[in-house]
Amino acid sequence: RPVWAVIPAAGSGSRMGTAIPKQFLMLQDKPVLAHTLDRLGLHPRLRGIQVATAADKAQWNAVAQHVAPLTRDKLLPVCVGGESRAQSVLRGLEALDAHADPRDWVLVHDAARPCLRQADIDALLQALDAGAEGAILGAPVADTLKRVDNCVIQETVPRQQLWRAFTPQAFRLGSLRAALSAALRQGVEITDEASAIERAGGHPRMVQGHTDNLKITLSEDMDMAAIILVGILA
Ligand code: CTP
Ligand code: MG
Repeated sequence: RPVWAVIPAAGSGSRMGTAIPKQFLMLQDKPVLAHTLDRLGLHPRLRGIQVATAADKAQWNAVAQHVAPLTRDKLLPVCVGGESRAQSVLRGLEALDAHADPRDWVLVHDAARPCLRQADIDALLQALDAGAEGAILGAPVADTLKRVDNCVIQETVPRQQLWRAFTPQAFRLGSLRAALSAALRQGVEITDEASAIERAGGHPRMVQGHTDNLKITLSEDMDMAAIILVGILA
């Protein structure tokens, strides 16, 4: 089945604290979001990309000018995102509905993750090809975990079986749309797509990905992303 992508890119980047949201900051030669789009758009199995962005399209227009021609051909008309990441994703899925079949695969991927490797996309798609109902990239927690109250350690949390959840997260368009809108209707906080599917009784696969698929959150992450990109694009 065809593979599509939805990119939530409507955040304000409050933790980064820059005047323009982090996905529009220049990273080497182009905006963060242009890198992110090319990482997906240049993958041969990617059919089309739906971006959900802020109502003001000025910054988006600069991004579209920076993506590779092959990526540009795959960009669907952008839609406006929502108040939360989950709402932006849902808006994106609804817009994608006009182009895709409910049984098609959709990869939801953060605009703020420009260091996605082609090999990790391959691994994710392999899990789907092997029969998974859905799959996400992630990695086992490497650090010791503490539960902390007001800067005082309460306990050490066992980290066996604990994984970090990255994106892309891949599901069938129809089932993800239903699970996400049900979760939002119930008013629960949803921080990734898999949690909406889990609430609906699903058991997606966890696919181990590279930990350099970082989500740019703080200003130091920009320097790290620049270094990682040099290695990935080499
Ligand atoms: N996002 C979105 N719509 C929102 C909030 C977030 O599309 N209402 C997107 C962001 O643009 C980002 C991704 O979801 O690509 C992951 O969110 P996060 O890293 O939290 O970005 P921000 O919400 O922009 O940053 P912050 O939480 O620091 O404000
Ligand atoms: Mg946020």
